[in-house]
Amino acid sequence: MGKIMDKIVILDMGGQYAHLLARRVRQLGIYSEILPNDTSAEKLENIEGIKGIIISGGPSSVYDKSSPKPGKGLFEIKVPILGLCYGHQLMAQNLGGKVSPGKTKEYGVANLQTKKTMKKIGDIFAGLNDNEKIWMSHGDSVEKLPKGFELIGSTEDCPIAAMGNKNLNYYGIQFHPEVTHTEHGMKIISNFVFEICKAEKSWSMDTFIDDKIKEIKSQTGKRNVFLLVSGGVDSSVCFALLNKALGSKRVYGLHIDNGFMRKNESREIEAALRKNGFSNFHAVDASSKFLEAVKGISDPEKKRKAIGGTFIKVQQDEVSKLNLNPNDWMLGQGTIYPDTIETKGTKNADLIKTHHNRVEAVQKLIEKGLVIEPIKELYKDEVRELGMKLGLPASLVNRHPFPGPGLAVRCLCIGDASQEKEKTGNDNLANNLAEAERQVSLICNKFGAKSKILPIKSVGVQGDSRTYRYPAAVWGINDYNLLEKLSTELTNKVKEINRVMLYVSGKAGKGMENTVISLIEKSFLTKERLDLLREADSAVHEHIKLHLYSKIWQFPVVLAPVSVSLLSAGREGNTGESIILRPVESREAMTANWARLPEADLNVIAKEIMKIKGISAVFYDVTNKPPATIEWE
Ligand code: XMP
Repeated sequence: MGKIMDKIVILDMGGQYAHLLARRVRQLGIYSEILPNDTSAEKLENIEGIKGIIISGGPSSVYDKSSPKPGKGLFEIKVPILGLCYGHQLMAQNLGGKVSPGKTKEYGVANLQTKKTMKKIGDIFAGLNDNEKIWMSHGDSVEKLPKGFELIGSTEDCPIAAMGNKNLNYYGIQFHPEVTHTEHGMKIISNFVFEICKAEKSWSMDTFIDDKIKEIKSQTGKRNVFLLVSGGVDSSVCFALLNKALGSKRVYGLHIDNGFMRKNESREIEAALRKNGFSNFHAVDASSKFLEAVKGISDPEKKRKAIGGTFIKVQQDEVSKLNLNPNDWMLGQGTIYPDTIETKGTKNADLIKTHHNRVEAVQKLIEKGLVIEPIKELYKDEVRELGMKLGLPASLVNRHPFPGPGLAVRCLCIGDASQEKEKTGNDNLANNLAEAERQVSLICNKFGAKSKILPIKSVGVQGDSRTYRYPAAVWGINDYNLLEKLSTELTNKVKEINRVMLYVSGKAGKGMENTVISLIEKSFLTKERLDLLREADSAVHEHIKLHLYSKIWQFPVVLAPVSVSLLSAGREGNTGESIILRPVESREAMTANWARLPEADLNVIAKEIMKIKGISAVFYDVTNKPPATIEWE
């Protein structure tokens, strides 16, 4: 029998916190397991190696009827517990304290004052300063401590920000130590895991590989795996892992050129896989099937669903062409954690975007147990580490992420006026926008900047919910620190806006004062438009590969059916579409900052793009995530 490894159990109270906590525990070298909120104490006590429990945060209020409840006997268990945010409130409420419904909501960075009593070695706050920068996101607050608990930390707006009971080894913390904005959050989690739970390190990427190989073997049984390899980091790593677990005879890869790939990309991917010793795959050009599937669609979610469904159809066609018995083959996918959370990954999450590997056809296969996703709990940087361990070259493992639906989600579409009205549900667009434009311009004035709102929408995320709103284009402001402030103020204060872009260059000249902005109606996903985007994307990547590539997380280039032309030229002066540059910095793609491109690079890139026939203007997206998302759709 193998050694029993120490483990921390995370009870999932909704949202994305449980997975982030599991990752933090892994980062400390400890096994973690996520279980449903209502797992009973009896079941928990019987888990081999359990050393402690973390109750995650979540978007609910303990006062909601439908809020996640604790399992039977949870707060009698003799295992250390750390309750975070919602978990903290649940602990207080269940042990005789009091929670008051949200009077002062608190979102963002706050100052925690720690109390002396629990700061000695072996305590939850050991090694922390008297004042700590922490991240709050809550409506309700604990108003009265449960019996036997002492107060160990407060913020200005939250008197009971942390509490603890040393005899029970139960701790409650209102803020989020798992998010990077809490400066010493990892220290708190590490104190809990090592000092309070006395867990011993046992998890590493090597043990992950060993465990996964066993899991893959048992999950597949006698069946083989048919994997879609996009050529991106995730599917390549997944392909390598499956090959290691099952051998190349039981794994088959299919690269589908969906017509939404970058310039020459499919050919390069095929060559890279062969060069790395994989021959158990083939590539198929299915671009015409995909273009047919998205014909006439302008709504981003409909587009995503049509593309995801077509992947499954093409995969099934190929299985039958290869004469493979579908009963002997499972579908493998390189899904990683952020893919699942955006597609309403947990019970209480909002749908932000339907990722291509979570569309209905795939969900049905998952329900039947026909899908295997061996890296689905990992985050991108863990996938990269895994890839390196499996011997993939750095050039493949460090590629920028590229979404499954590819350039399709970077090529905005627009129907005719009536179709758009149906999509936005808005009869009175012009009036609403005029009011928003007035508010935007008032704020811009303070910064000495000018602005116009563009009549296209993109997806954003605010307070864990999806938004679909307009971008404001600004000019006359070059200082990046000021631009950051302006961008935040505009998206916070003007309801209709979820993105801000700097106007960089255009046929109409320096500013946009004397321009007409017109929507190019009936712009859909056609080969011509995709080729145009491919050219612009290629110009950007040719430039950044010289010295910027490794400093940026991802650099989407977006085509928008909006023409910016000189007023004097009138509407007939339509000089082409717009390109939006969207470089971002990120660690996990759950949040991101716009990447500050050196001005010289920005100008060279814009100049190259303006040489392409059919482009009238270049913009630079200067919005963080949230409030925007990384991709536009
Ligand atoms: P957003 O735009 O939601 O993107 O901030 C977060 C990360 O996910 C990638 N992305 C996808 N990846 N299938 C994928 O495999 C998809 O459907 C998909 N949609 C977005 C995006 O590129 C970014 O890295």
